[in-house]
Amino acid sequence: MRPAASLPRDARPNFHAGKALAHQPWVTGPTITDARDGLGPLYNARTCLACHINGGRGPLPERAEQPLFAGVLRLSIPGKDRALGVVPEPTYGDQLQTQSTALAHQLRASGQDIALAKGEVAPEATIRVRWHASEFRYPDGTAVALRRPEALVSDLRPRRRRRRRGLRAPQRRLGLRAPGPRPRPLRLEGQPGEPAHPGRRGPPSRPRDR
Ligand code: HEC
Repeated sequence: MRPAASLPRDARPNFHAGKALAHQPWVTGPTITDARDGLGPLYNARTCLACHINGGRGPLPERAEQPLFAGVLRLSIPGKDRALGVVPEPTYGDQLQTQSTALAHQLRASGQDIALAKGEVAPEATIRVRWHASEFRYPDGTAVALRRPEALVSDLRPRRRRRRRGLRAPQRRLGLRAPGPRPRPLRLEGQPGEPAHPGRRGPPSRPRDR
C-alpha cells in the first residue's frame, strides 16, 4: 500500500505512521516493548489488518464450520431510545471477544488438553455464521439473490440472556484518515432546525442491534 500521489509531501509521515499502526501485532504484556503490549487476556485479533484485510473489507466466514474471525458480534441491551440508544451488555461489554492469550486456547488446534493457568481466561464465545438465501423482485420483474447472515453463538461464558446482537463486517480502511482526534467534529445530527448535510432529512441511519 502506497500513499496517494496527491498526498502532500509533509503529510507522508502520517501515512507511514498509520500504516505501521495497522500492521503492528499487539503482544501480551509485560514485554520488552512498551509501545504495543497489553494484549489480552481476551481479544479479537492481534493487528488491525487481520480484520481489515489489505486495508479493505474483511470477510465473514462462508461455511458454518469456520468460526468468525474478522467480523465482530456486538452485544447490547435496550437503551432509552429504542432504535439507536443501545447500552453495552453489562457482562461482556459491547462486543464478544473470541480469542484468549491463554496457552490452552492458543494450542487448541493441536488437540492437546491443557488446563487454564492461574489468571488465564477462556474466550467468551465461539461465533459461527449461517447464511439464509432469499430472492427480491423489483417491480419490473428483475430478481436479485440476497443473503442474510445469522450469528450462531456457542460456548458462551458466562451465560447471559436478554441481549441484542449486531453482526458487523470490517469496513474498508483505505483512504480514511488516521484514527485520532478529528480537526472538525463529524456532524451527523445537525443543529436544531438545521440539516447537517444539504439535502438530507431525518436521522442518520446506523446499523442496529436486534
Ligand atoms: C476483530 C476485527 C477488527 C480489528 C482487529 C479491527 N477492526 Fe476496525 N472494524 C471492524 C468491524 C467489524 C468494523 C465495522 C463496525 C460496525 O459496523 O459497527 C470496523 C470498523 C472500523 C472503522 C470504521 C470504518 C467506517 O467506514 O465506518 C475504522 C476506521 C476501523 N475499523 C479502524 C480500525 C483500526 C485502526 C484498527 C486497529 C487499531 C481496527 N479497525 C481493528 C473489525 C476490526
